[in-house]
Order: sequence, then structure tokens, then C-alpha cells
Amino acid sequence: MKKPTIFITRKIPTKLLEPYSDLFDFKMWKKEDEPVPREVLEDEVKQVDGLLCVLSDQVDQSLLNQSNQLKIVANMAVGFDNIDIDYAKKMGVVVTNTPDVLSESTADLGFALMMATARRLNEAAQYIKNGQWKNWAPFLLAGTDIHHKTLGIVGMGRIGEAIARRAKGFGMNVLYHNRNRKREAEVKLQASYVQMEELLSQSDFVISVVPFTKETNKLFNKEAFEKMKESAVFVNISRGAVVDENALYYALKSGEIKAAGLDVFEQEPIKSDHPLLELENVVCLPHIGSATVQTRTEMIELCLKNIATVLEEKAPLTPVN
Ligand code: NAP
Ligand code: GLV
Repeated sequence: MKKPTIFITRKIPTKLLEPYSDLFDFKMWKKEDEPVPREVLEDEVKQVDGLLCVLSDQVDQSLLNQSNQLKIVANMAVGFDNIDIDYAKKMGVVVTNTPDVLSESTADLGFALMMATARRLNEAAQYIKNGQWKNWAPFLLAGTDIHHKTLGIVGMGRIGEAIARRAKGFGMNVLYHNRNRKREAEVKLQASYVQMEELLSQSDFVISVVPFTKETNKLFNKEAFEKMKESAVFVNISRGAVVDENALYYALKSGEIKAAGLDVFEQEPIKSDHPLLELENVVCLPHIGSATVQTRTEMIELCLKNIATVLEEKAPLTPVN
């Protein structure tokens, strides 16, 4: 009997596929760092039973309509805003993501970005490389303290909670905002639930960890930045589109807020002439929240487990639709 076929949209280590080699035929796009061209993806999806894709692949109606026997789309990300999950459901296609396995690594990166931004690490490293370090000076590259400050977490989910745990170690006062209050997390993490306005006006650090949805589209807009303290540091590790980048640029340039650390952008990848890159008070990273070898490996393994369970007609481990 013919084995089910799986198409993988980036080159991944073949040793991760070995446990499944008796069960499935794998086809894989040949490059790790370049997306599969849309026409190739549209062609491949016609004859596959499973698709293992990454967050930059748009799995929309037009792609799903090309498929004939697709049963599962396993997204190698916890966020799934690149997939039309309602349409997939209508077509009977299961969609899965990779929650939990990446929460701690992403929280580490979020905290690292917050610290790098507040303590001006990029500027300081560049200062030495430029040969500018001639003398010690009382306020040379002086930044903002993190310890004992107030952190506002917008999106106290899996990653938000992992950030709050780190913040406790730094003696921070933690505020959070979600649509639903999480009383258990409040007790466990000594975090206080506040409305969005209060979070924005009271926090020294505001970090976004909300998924991108219709509701969170440009949640951080002109009005939001106006409500923040002039000394506030804004960090975004969720999705670029939760921020109005023009408003953020203006807020940073005009001193409405102090600094920003960004791992994600409205249009990725950004070009080297992106206006936010001009600003000294901004630290930009190329969407590397979960990028450790261990975590990325676990994400791929979880995708493969989801594919195997669905193709064995069992319940997926981490479904989103
Ligand atoms: P999660 O556990 O689902 O947490 C998301 C939180 O956001 C929930 O607590 C949810 O609470 C809250 N939320 C959702 N909609 C909201 C709204 N309209 N207003 C306020 N709060 C809202 O997800 P997670 O695993 O922590 O991941 C969060 C996001 O991080 C992902 O969706 C992804 O976009 C991003 N991410 C980025 C990276 C990276 O590389 N930078 C890595 C991993 C994840 P309520 O439902 O109660 O509102
Ligand atoms: C990364 O951005 C993810 O959603 O896993």
C-alpha cells in the first residue's frame, strides 16, 4: 500500500524524520533559509496527506483549495495567524501548532530583549567596535534599571507567565492584561490584573505576548503610546501587526516613550533601510524568539507527532481548530 506523503516547506535535519520513515514518504523544500516558492507549494499540496509548514507560509483558502487529500497542516510555531483555520476546518483539515515546548526559550528571549534595550547593550557593543571607548565616564551609556520596576504583560498566556516568573526573580512588580482574568496566575506569580489603560500608564516596561487576531490588530497604536510613561520601554515578541509601526516610530522619535525592543515586524523580513533601524533607542531582532537548537528541534518533533497521530486517525496532540 502507498504510504501517505508529507511535504515539509523548509529543509530540516533528516535524522528527525528517521523514526517515521516506515510510515510516510517525505518530500522537503531544498533550502533552510529560503521559503518554498508559492507555485511549488501549490503544486506539492495537490498530492500530499500532510503539510509541515513554517510561520511565513500563507496557508490560505487558495492554497487549501489546491489540495485533494490533505488531512493535516502542522505549523512549526505556536502562533497560527498564517493559516485560515476556519476554512481548513470546513475542509476537514486539522491544523496543529507547537505550544509549550517553546514557552521558556521565548520568554528567555523576551527578557533578554527587554534587558538589552533598557541597558543599551547593542549601542555599548557597537561603541567599542567603533573605537569610541576612550575613558570611563559617570553617565557613559547609562540606561534604565529593570529590577524593582513595574512590568506590564499584555497577554498572560503560556509565554506571558514564563516572563512573569523571570520578572519575579528581578523583584519586579507585575501587572497583566488579558480578556479573561487568571486568578491562579495572580496567586502563583503575584501578578495584578488591570485594564489595558492602567497597564499602559503604570508600567515601566510593556511587553506584548498576545496572538495576532482581528482584535489585537494595531493594539499598540498612537493612543496606546501616548498613555505610556515617557520613561517606558516597549517590547514586542508576539507579532509585528499588533503594533502600528508608524505610531511607534513617532513615539520613539518624539520622546513619547524611551525605547523599544522588537523581535517581530509588520512585514518580515524587514529591509536594512526600515525607519525603526535608524533609531538608537531601538533594538531589532529577526524573529528569533524560540530560536535555540533544542527548542526548534522539539518544535519539529511535535509537528511530526501531530502528523503521525492525525494520519493514524487519532486525536492530534495540539490542535488549534
Ligand atoms: P497563549 O498561551 O494563547 O497566550 C496568549 C494570551 O493572550 C492569552 O493569555 C490570552 O488571554 C491573551 N489574549 C488573546 N487575545 C487577547 C486580546 N484581544 N486582548 C488581550 N489579551 C489577549 O499563547 P502563547 O503560547 O503564550 O503565545 C503567544 C504569542 O506569542 C503567539 O500567538 C505568537 O504570536 C507569539 N510568539 C512569538 C514568538 C517569537 O519568536 N517572537 C515565539 C512564540 C510565540 P485571553 O484569551 O484571556 O484574552
Ligand atoms: C513564533 O513566532 C511562534 O509563533 O512560534
